[in-house]
Amino acid sequence: MAILFNEKAKTFTLHTRNTSYQMKIGSFDYLLHLYYGPCVPDEDMSYQIMEYDRGFSGNPYESRNARTFSLDAQPQEFTTYRQGDFRISSIEVINGDGSYCYHGKPVDYKISQGKYKLDTLPCVFASETDTVHTLEVTLCDAASNLKVILLYSVFEEADIITRSVKVLNAGDKAVHLKKIMSVCLDFLNGANLDLVSLPGRYGQERQVERQPMTHHIHSIGSIRGSSSHQQNPFVILCDREATEDYGWCYGFSLMYSGNFLAEAELDQYDQLRLVMGINPNSFLYELKPGGTFEGPEVVMAFTCRGFTALSHIYHDFYRTNLCRSKFVGEVKRPVLINSWEAAFMNFDDVKLVEIAKAAKNMGVDLLVMDDGWFGKRDDDNSGLGDWYVNENKIKCGLHRLVEQINALDMKFGIWFEPEMVSEDSDLYRAHPDWAMEIPGRHGVRSRNQLALDMSRRDVQDYLIEKINAILDDANIYYVKWDINRSLADIWSNSLPAGNQGEVCHRYILGLYRVMDEIILTHPHILFEGCSGGGGRFDPAMLSYYPQYWVSDNNNPIDRLKLHYGTSFVYPTCTMGAHISDSGRFVPLETKAVVAMCGTFGYELDATHLSKKEQKLCKKQSDLFRKYYHITFWGDFYRLTDPFKAGNMTAWQHVTKDKKESLLSVVVTSLTCNGPQEYIKAKGLDPKAMYSLNGSRELRSGSALMNAGIPINREVPEYSAFQFHLVKAD
Ligand code: GLA
Repeated sequence: MAILFNEKAKTFTLHTRNTSYQMKIGSFDYLLHLYYGPCVPDEDMSYQIMEYDRGFSGNPYESRNARTFSLDAQPQEFTTYRQGDFRISSIEVINGDGSYCYHGKPVDYKISQGKYKLDTLPCVFASETDTVHTLEVTLCDAASNLKVILLYSVFEEADIITRSVKVLNAGDKAVHLKKIMSVCLDFLNGANLDLVSLPGRYGQERQVERQPMTHHIHSIGSIRGSSSHQQNPFVILCDREATEDYGWCYGFSLMYSGNFLAEAELDQYDQLRLVMGINPNSFLYELKPGGTFEGPEVVMAFTCRGFTALSHIYHDFYRTNLCRSKFVGEVKRPVLINSWEAAFMNFDDVKLVEIAKAAKNMGVDLLVMDDGWFGKRDDDNSGLGDWYVNENKIKCGLHRLVEQINALDMKFGIWFEPEMVSEDSDLYRAHPDWAMEIPGRHGVRSRNQLALDMSRRDVQDYLIEKINAILDDANIYYVKWDINRSLADIWSNSLPAGNQGEVCHRYILGLYRVMDEIILTHPHILFEGCSGGGGRFDPAMLSYYPQYWVSDNNNPIDRLKLHYGTSFVYPTCTMGAHISDSGRFVPLETKAVVAMCGTFGYELDATHLSKKEQKLCKKQSDLFRKYYHITFWGDFYRLTDPFKAGNMTAWQHVTKDKKESLLSVVVTSLTCNGPQEYIKAKGLDPKAMYSLNGSRELRSGSALMNAGIPINREVPEYSAFQFHLVKAD
């Protein structure tokens, strides 16, 4: 059994294949956190906790004159609020009597088989072969009767523990939640921990940053209404010495697409607390008597074998337990060509068919008609919200256009930006109150567009109806779902003044409802997420879309960093990656090697390519298909760090059975008459012999991993190499 309750010690122990997690109903019935790390058989790890008289750290009322128990120093599973623990908290609440406090203690628990579900938010799921158990621990504040239910699901084989939280107002007065974090993890010794995060910006998402924990609160989060380009809802706490191959690493990946916050605080006693959940900034949620609230899920993983092993846990899990689309496994992803960088909004049906015909020679399976096909949309100042075909551009109508593409034996895809509205649109003229603008103030423009108030049922229904009508009208195989601004004017005309603190969260709930009604009702369509590139690349979005556009930045050299950072948590099969005109000095072959790290496709005007170039593209598309089983299902290794000085960036995919591998190298700079460089492979069978690119000379896995592969340095800058390693029989 993966979850054990020890009656005597009052401990709950959660075991995965390689990890254990323990908590205890401890002194004065507080729920204390005892352990998360490599497997331990001990049923009571509370011997680690030493109690001292800590000056200026208060003692709870129940401890009377004893001064050695202070919530300010105890490791906790879910914190109290204003009860003498002065560190960052799990909860902040205004009770019905106006007081600010929460004093929850465990009153009930339940252990069951299977994975818990959330009613309002996306979650990971258990597949048929997974062994999964769930623990629910109910805490109650005796004075207010506000209950907090802590949820844990243990995925034994996957080495994953998920956590979430539900709040139930069982009292008779309304309360207001100011903060509710889905996870709290206390480390008894946190002085030697580093925090790794994935900050970025438009065009440069998910770069990697690492900071040592010092005695203050480190916050990583977003208040942009979406998980954002600037931060990602994923952090790692690791040993100061941790590397790709060595060291303790804890991962926290939040299934939420809105404002989020991860806080880590090294306290006065060098204990470290990490909390993660919805960002409390501008958040105030009313819970009437009987009302409930759900916090998003956090997917936690631990390994003592470094970043690569941690990434592998997430990659394996997110490949199989996150998205139910048939395009995850059953059906292979197509090679696509997207019209955006080919024509921007300056196209018509004839131009699209021309691009498709040229792309056909390049081995492309699918044409995507990007922004500009609907309403009045010749530039980005108008038209958003008017989801009907602009027949001045698509003169033959959508149906006929799709038929023409299908006649080429190609599939057809289309772009939407459902959450937005242009002031110059029929939708805005009919429903100005549907846009998010604060009455009496001018709204902030961004790309000259406003956000729709997704918290409104009528807005949701409008989008569901309009978009489904388009999807059902023609033979659409693929949808790119975009969002191109952050939320600034937080306001909903459908909520009373006192409930405006709920808008950002309700926006996300409304968005998930719209996605449920459009995406889940069209299982035959491949959906790709996008947000001005990779601005909302998070696991909740990936539970709907099997793939997500990494960045609008298609420069292949920048992409090396983008793919590297993204791969810390997200599998490479989720990364939308295309060959485009960007990167003038980079050969097409190199662009293809980089795009093969992800879903592979083109973003250029195929009609401008010479026959020779088209032929080369065809070769690359075929290679992508040839290596698909390696790059989509193999283990991914970051062989070099593109953020560090060096002349080349290398990465590798290895099939699970270690029989095949694709090792890719891009030469980013050359030194005149420099030393010979070697790339060391990883993940191979050391005893097996491998052929390289079909060569008859075989090399052992051990040689390839320990001596490495010499990289020819007599090559032009930005050359790339792909080594296909095949195990000899
Ligand atoms: C965003 C996307 C692009 C493209 C444009 C269209 O920037 O990231 O790929 O779809 O919008 O307006």
